Amino acid sequence: MALQQKGMHGTWVSRWTFIMAATGSAVGLGNMWKFPYVAGSNGGGAFVLMYLACILLIGVPVMMAEVMIGRHGRKSPINSMRDAVDDSGADPRWGYVGWMGVAAGMLILSFYAVIAGWALDYIFEVASGNLIGVNGASAGAVFDQLLNDPGRLVLWQTVFMLLCVGVVVGGVKRGLGVAVEILMPLLFVMMLILLGFAVVKGNFSAAWAFLFSFNFEALSWRAVLEAMGQAFFTLSIGMGAIMAYGAYMPQNANIGKTILVVAFFDSSVAIISGLIIFSIVFATQGVEPSAGPGLMFISLPVAFGAMPGGVLIGSIFFVLVSIAAWSSAISLLEPCVAWLIETKNMGRITANLLLAGFAWLLGLGSVFSFNIWSEYKLAGFTFFDFLDFLTANIMLPLSGLMIALFVGFVMKEEAVNAELEGTPSLVAEFWRTTLRYIAPVAIAAVFVMGIYDKFLS
Ligand code: TRP
Repeated sequence: MALQQKGMHGTWVSRWTFIMAATGSAVGLGNMWKFPYVAGSNGGGAFVLMYLACILLIGVPVMMAEVMIGRHGRKSPINSMRDAVDDSGADPRWGYVGWMGVAAGMLILSFYAVIAGWALDYIFEVASGNLIGVNGASAGAVFDQLLNDPGRLVLWQTVFMLLCVGVVVGGVKRGLGVAVEILMPLLFVMMLILLGFAVVKGNFSAAWAFLFSFNFEALSWRAVLEAMGQAFFTLSIGMGAIMAYGAYMPQNANIGKTILVVAFFDSSVAIISGLIIFSIVFATQGVEPSAGPGLMFISLPVAFGAMPGGVLIGSIFFVLVSIAAWSSAISLLEPCVAWLIETKNMGRITANLLLAGFAWLLGLGSVFSFNIWSEYKLAGFTFFDFLDFLTANIMLPLSGLMIALFVGFVMKEEAVNAELEGTPSLVAEFWRTTLRYIAPVAIAAVFVMGIYDKFLS
């Protein structure tokens, strides 16, 4: 019999609830909005292969390690990390890993709310019928109009932030556990319907070829770094979100199997989104696969504007993107809120307003980077691009590296083994080797080469 330990917050009802909650955190803008455009900007096929390799060889082992720290401590990430450090007798400075995660979480939340705001705005844009019959160019103009209107961007950013606060104030467990079990399957069904549309009406074979034919000449170290950053971002690892959810995982659930299922769902949604969007892109004149952040907001409206019932399907699609973003964003807010409550004795409402307010304020920088500040560049990036690059490509890999080294070499053997209970020893050995050697070496190599490529060559 496995131990039935519980923390002060209790556990998810079942392994399945954990899977849906972790999938809710993982599946978000990263899958539907970011993956297709990053793959598009990096030439497709070879990037996708690197991305999948990063998910399997780096993402899954590190994600398992993160869940282990969380389930071992059963507290908010900063405190779980500190507990693991304390009872391994390790250097207390390892505890900084938890802090870096929280900082990255706040930075991500700040721009995440702005992009989620675009999706909210597009629910109404599509529903109003404004986009019926648009082509690539006119859909692009409608999108530019949104980006050039700071007031409208701030409005939707604020609405999204309030939606997140609304959930987290009420306590994530009660609301979230139920919500994700309904919303995630619904999301999956909607994606399949859109995929059907893409197969029938889009240029599916071109999309398939673009995503799965491997042209290694197009692949730079910078692209490999982005593939790795994307793997971290999409799985929600490297910043404590998964650690926090792991703290509520039943003790008898097998971590390896569970995380593989989450990674499978997450990659499937990303690949299906890519197939849908590129099928439509390749069937539409005036839209390039390398269109960048606007890809989803320009190419899909063209398709919705042309199909019967497109106004309805299109609005529902953007509702679902918003929901996916929502279930991810609360996993960015909750760990910090939990920590403030645990250690600073702060009320849940105060903690929420404080953190959401901070992220909202910082988010204004991203809002303005699309219009009035678009000329200001930091290291060649706009403010939004800078935060995106800093978090996904620097902070998340760095804290992933530290987590791999910590659980691989520093954390007490018995504690790790207790979390591995029920895992066949061959699988456990494979995981340990990957976590100790393959993941850290790969992260470090890609990291150094990617930064070199970006700034020094
Ligand atoms: N995984 C989410 C997405 O793909 C984003 C996200 C949620 C995230 N929580 C996170 C990213 C924690 C990094 C860390 O949209």
